[in-house]
Amino acid sequence: MTKLKIFLVLAACLLLVSCQGIGKEEEKNSIRIGVSLYRGDDTFINNIRSIMEEKAKEYERQSGIKIILDIQEAKGSQNIQNNQVERFISLDCDVLCINPVDRMDASGVIDKAMTAGVPVVFFNRQPVEEDMNRWDHLYYVGVDAKETAILQGKMVVDLYREHPESVDLNGDGVVSYVMLEGETSHQDSLIRTEWSVQTLKDGKVPIEKITGGIANWERSQASALMEQWIAEYPSDIELVISNNDDMALGAIDALERAQVTGVNVIGIDGTTPGLEALESGRLLGTVSVDKELYVSAILELTVSCALGQEPPEEYPLSDGTYYWTPQEILIHRIEENQ
Ligand code: BGC
Repeated sequence: MTKLKIFLVLAACLLLVSCQGIGKEEEKNSIRIGVSLYRGDDTFINNIRSIMEEKAKEYERQSGIKIILDIQEAKGSQNIQNNQVERFISLDCDVLCINPVDRMDASGVIDKAMTAGVPVVFFNRQPVEEDMNRWDHLYYVGVDAKETAILQGKMVVDLYREHPESVDLNGDGVVSYVMLEGETSHQDSLIRTEWSVQTLKDGKVPIEKITGGIANWERSQASALMEQWIAEYPSDIELVISNNDDMALGAIDALERAQVTGVNVIGIDGTTPGLEALESGRLLGTVSVDKELYVSAILELTVSCALGQEPPEEYPLSDGTYYWTPQEILIHRIEENQ
């Protein structure tokens, strides 16, 4: 063989090897997934984490492909999360599953993933569109915040139409409410706050806002705020609208401490403690995302990325990138349970 021929054969071999990454289906018997959670003490995220661990085992049993889930908590620091991503890449993770700490600053994660050619499935905290558009191998699994808020508002609208006296507790023709909001930087907080109230207005529920505050999704912060509001407006609060179940539970804690009864509290998520409070009637209602489907979408998408396959058809992606998980209203049935 001439030197030129040897060179051409070597070059062809190199090209073949480099084409085995993204876009090529691979025969793999194990997949390593690097998962980073924005915090380890968030109730909703913890619910998702447990279901993910169960489903990964189930997938492993069914497919015979070993799933190595390396789950890390970023403790609310984008810096920590960026370092975790670097470590995942150095450990040869096939794909990353990221719950961003700062959804406005996902560029660090994306830069590293793109350089290494490792696809990313983001979830729950939606990176900005500009970042998501940077690469074809970035996906997002979440919940449509406006839809959530409209469902949350609708449950009060329906109740008010059927039993106005159970919402307008003092019968003065106005429903006086307080609002508990999540983190300001989170896409869900602003949209949920705006659209739940708008839905009440559109549904002709006569509402009046007493006050509101940011409790960053946290039960203890919400409880402290609610305690303050009960002291300031002792007999005015008729409804507590909360951006999530954990803050709703914080409000319930404060109401119970102050021995105030009858106030309606509504949340969002359908977390395990949220559903318990719903069952006992302490929480009037919640909007519950289908968490099984949410996690299946994350896992199936992740696995298809790792195997270099097309995204699974059972989870239709809008713009080829976003999977929006269905959700439903769950309400404590007053008539049935009393
Ligand atoms: C959930 C909250 C959760 C937050 C974390 C929201 O979508 O409703 O319960 O704390 O995501 O990012």
